[in-house]
Amino acid sequence: MKYLKQLFVAFCLLIISVARADEGMWLPLLLEKLNEQHMKSLGMKISAKDIYNINSGSLKDAIVSFGGFCTGEVISSKGLVLTNHHCGFDAVQNHSTLEHNYIKDGFWAKNYSEEIPNQGLFVTFIVRIEDVSKQALQGVTAAMSETERQSTIDKNIAELRKNVKKESYQDSFVRGFFEGNQYYLFVTETYRDVRLVGAPPSAIGNFGKDTDNWIWPRHTGDFSMFRIYAGKDNKPAAYSADNVPYVPKKSLSISLDGVTEGDFTMVFGFPGRTMEYLHSAAVDQTVRVSDPTKIAIRDKALAVIDGFMRKDEQIKIQYASKYAGISNSWKKWQGEVLGLTKTNAVAKKQAYEAEFQKRVNANPQWKTKYGSLLSDLAAAYKELEPYSLARDYINEVVSRIELFTIIAQINSLNNAMEKNGEKGFNESLPRVKERLEDLYKEYNPEVDKKLFAALIEIFVTGQNNYFISAELVKAAKDHNMDFGKLADEIYNSTDLDDATKTMEMLDQNPKQLVETAKQSKASSLYADIINAYVDKVQGEYTDVQNRINQLQRTYMQAQMDVFKEKKFYPDANSTMRVTYGKVKGYEPRDAVKYEYYTYLDGVMEKYVPGDYEFDVPEKLRELYKSKDYGQYGNNGKMPVCFIAMNHTTGGNSGSPALDAYGNLVGLNFDRAWEGTMSDINYDPSICRNIMVDVRYVLFIIDKYAGAGHLVQEMKLVHPKKK
Ligand code: ARG
Ligand code: GLU
Repeated sequence: MKYLKQLFVAFCLLIISVARADEGMWLPLLLEKLNEQHMKSLGMKISAKDIYNINSGSLKDAIVSFGGFCTGEVISSKGLVLTNHHCGFDAVQNHSTLEHNYIKDGFWAKNYSEEIPNQGLFVTFIVRIEDVSKQALQGVTAAMSETERQSTIDKNIAELRKNVKKESYQDSFVRGFFEGNQYYLFVTETYRDVRLVGAPPSAIGNFGKDTDNWIWPRHTGDFSMFRIYAGKDNKPAAYSADNVPYVPKKSLSISLDGVTEGDFTMVFGFPGRTMEYLHSAAVDQTVRVSDPTKIAIRDKALAVIDGFMRKDEQIKIQYASKYAGISNSWKKWQGEVLGLTKTNAVAKKQAYEAEFQKRVNANPQWKTKYGSLLSDLAAAYKELEPYSLARDYINEVVSRIELFTIIAQINSLNNAMEKNGEKGFNESLPRVKERLEDLYKEYNPEVDKKLFAALIEIFVTGQNNYFISAELVKAAKDHNMDFGKLADEIYNSTDLDDATKTMEMLDQNPKQLVETAKQSKASSLYADIINAYVDKVQGEYTDVQNRINQLQRTYMQAQMDVFKEKKFYPDANSTMRVTYGKVKGYEPRDAVKYEYYTYLDGVMEKYVPGDYEFDVPEKLRELYKSKDYGQYGNNGKMPVCFIAMNHTTGGNSGSPALDAYGNLVGLNFDRAWEGTMSDINYDPSICRNIMVDVRYVLFIIDKYAGAGHLVQEMKLVHPKKK
């Protein structure tokens, strides 16, 4: 017994200190205080000030939020920006036609004048970050409701932003950290003239597609290139043909020496969302309920779409990007469940909570303040479970059925009419037209009907009738639970799944269209499904979730009070972060060991002539045969991708991977499947981020695409060959 107890204590200490070695997404302005020493001990040769310094150019000045959803980095003194292929995909696709298929063939501008503007695309630099917790939380009391609290904070932030010291062309925003226990101000500079410079063909930029997505070993050249343009004064300016290439405060040097196992790396970027400080009950729910439900629903959707895509070339093109989107999270959640299970995440959280409770109980002050926190949280999560499940069903089913999306768009015209009369109607019309036009371009009524049948079936049979629209339950019964028949009836009784007819009506008699849509069975069913959700789920869900937010906020503060020896980093919230860790392979399961590097040889091993995912362009095969790697090869081989222990998440796509000196060595674009649970519980044994080697990027630009003039703009260095 005593031995077990000792083991338990040892286990707790282990998870509190050792296991955290490479975990964390750190705020750049706190590196000096929290991380510099540790980073140096792992091999970093520069200082925290070289990374973040508001008084002179530092690495942070070369990093941008790319379009608000990815990360990019400046790699030349003329504003050249590197990001992922999948981040630049929309821009590349928008400029593609049948004659100029840049997705298929790639695109490279030969000079400035061939670089293509992209409406709506922007990059944002971070000028400075400040802790404004005191001002933001002024007047906030523990007795306030969530709504009161938020409105006080919103007022404080508005006031604070009015008085921020910044240039007229700069912006600012304030965001909550540590569940709203702290607030930080960001002063930013956004450039809105960002032009496409180049992208490899998708057979390189998205080699392996969905089969290889989230998978190590990987062989994808996931990059694309843009250039920032500025006004003549180098300041942000709206697009103009007269704009000039932006001269950055800092651009990254590029190392041609690569990395080897054990080398220090860091990744600098804009991670989107993590949940590292959840109660074990929430993690348990993710593993047991939420992820499996979402995966099961997406199984159905993917099977339907895949069935059509395999048989029909047109549908394959129309649904490829939708399929990739559905598949991306579907696959990630499966890895997440696997990883959380394999690493005993729930038990680890419980051990951590036991230690927390022990320390709290031993301190009278904490005991009053935090004594019932854990049990309150557990109870609240239990209460949330059915509502959260119903919400997963609505999100995964209703938004996937595009007949419903069409109805929602047409309804919005009706709402605009009711709210603002004729004027409102006419103002909304062009937007609705544009949205429907976009939707129909990638729409097939047969696919949608099959999706309806498959998804509505799992919607009805998978959950408690209490949460489902009465009209739907009755319709299902009336059709003897034959959802194919129900789908036939719904789709046969409307023309809304007919693009030509609907768009014609929208042009000629939009009011009539609104009326006809309203009368349809599909519309009535959709309304009833939504109403049932609003009546039975939404209110309760929000109430309990608000309570959980409050409790999680207190729990966050409590953890920081109680585990004084531990360094805390805030959950990702799409703000700028630095993460660091060593280059390292891993062992995902018994008898399987992964190396940390892949080579062009592996591309050739995966090559399947003519295949939709694994074809290899002829030119690349030739370069492989002749081993014409120039200065980018290493001992006669061409490195392609590598992995390290950096703690990253969605939004880190396109983030630079930097070496010990701050030189660019790679481009982050994915994580290894077995470790995707790092969003909830990072574990150094299996969590790895995947990067494309910058030498492969340069090789493709120079040798494959013949765009060596771009490499001329960059600063190439040899840090290992001094
Ligand atoms: N898994 C990566 C991410 O989460 C890449 C997604 C794009 N690539 C793909 N094959 N779907 O964004
Ligand atoms: N592919 C992800 C992105 O678009 C990065 C991979 C991850 O989730 O870590 O941001």
